Amino acid sequence: MSRDIKIAPSILSADFGHLADEITAIDKAGADYIHIDVMDGHFVPNISFGAPVYKCVRSATKKFFDVHLMIAPTDAYLKDFVDAGADGITVHAEAGPHLHRSLQTIKSLGVKTGVAINLSTPNDVLTSVMDMVDMVLVMTINPGFGGQKFVPSSLDKIRDVRRRITESGYDIDIQVDGGITAETAPQVIEAGANVLVAGTAVFKDGPSGYAKNIEAIRGNN
Ligand code: DX5
Ligand code: ZN
Repeated sequence: MSRDIKIAPSILSADFGHLADEITAIDKAGADYIHIDVMDGHFVPNISFGAPVYKCVRSATKKFFDVHLMIAPTDAYLKDFVDAGADGITVHAEAGPHLHRSLQTIKSLGVKTGVAINLSTPNDVLTSVMDMVDMVLVMTINPGFGGQKFVPSSLDKIRDVRRRITESGYDIDIQVDGGITAETAPQVIEAGANVLVAGTAVFKDGPSGYAKNIEAIRGNN
C-alpha cells in the first residue's frame, strides 16, 4: 500500500523565545504534523518542556499536535498532555511499567496512540499491542537531543516493523525520528516509513528556508 508522506518538524529545534511564530511559520511552510518532544531528564539525558508550554501555542495552528513523550513513567501525566492540546501521544515501550495500560489510557482520552521503540529495543514488544496502535515510532538515533547523526542499522528495524504491520492487517503509520534529512529521507521511505520527523533539517536556515527544507525532505526539490 502506498502511503502519503507526512513531514513532522520537531519544535525542539525552534526558537523557544518565539515559539508561536515558529509554529505558524512551519504550518505555512507545509508541515503536516507539529512534533513536540517532551523530555524529563530521567528517561533521556535532557530536559525540554512540558504540557503548559505547548498549551500556550496550541492556538497558533490547527495542525496535528504529535506529542512524543520521552518521560518515565507516563501514565499520571497523559490527561494533562491531552488537555493541553495533543492530537496524538507516543509513549516509549521502554518507559513502562505497563505499555498496554498506557495505550488504553491514551485511547480512552480520545487521541491517536503511538509506540516508540529505541534502536536497542526488540521489535517483538509490538506484537501484543498491534491492535491498539495508530503509529509506531522507530527511533533512528538514541533519544534526547536534536542534531545527531542518523544510525543506518535502523533501516532494518523499519523494514521489519513494516513487515509486521503488513502481516497484522492493521492500518498503522511508521514514524521515524532522528537525523532525518533530504539525504536520509529516501532511505527511510524505501524501508517503509511514512511520517518523517525532522528538527535540524527543517529549522537550520531560519523561517525563509522552512518551506524549501520541508519539500526537500518530502522529496520535492
Ligand atoms: C530527539 C527527538 C527528535 C529530535 C530530532 O530525541 O525525539 O524529535 O528533535 O532532531 P533532528 O531532526 O535534529 O535529529
Ligand atoms: Zn521526537
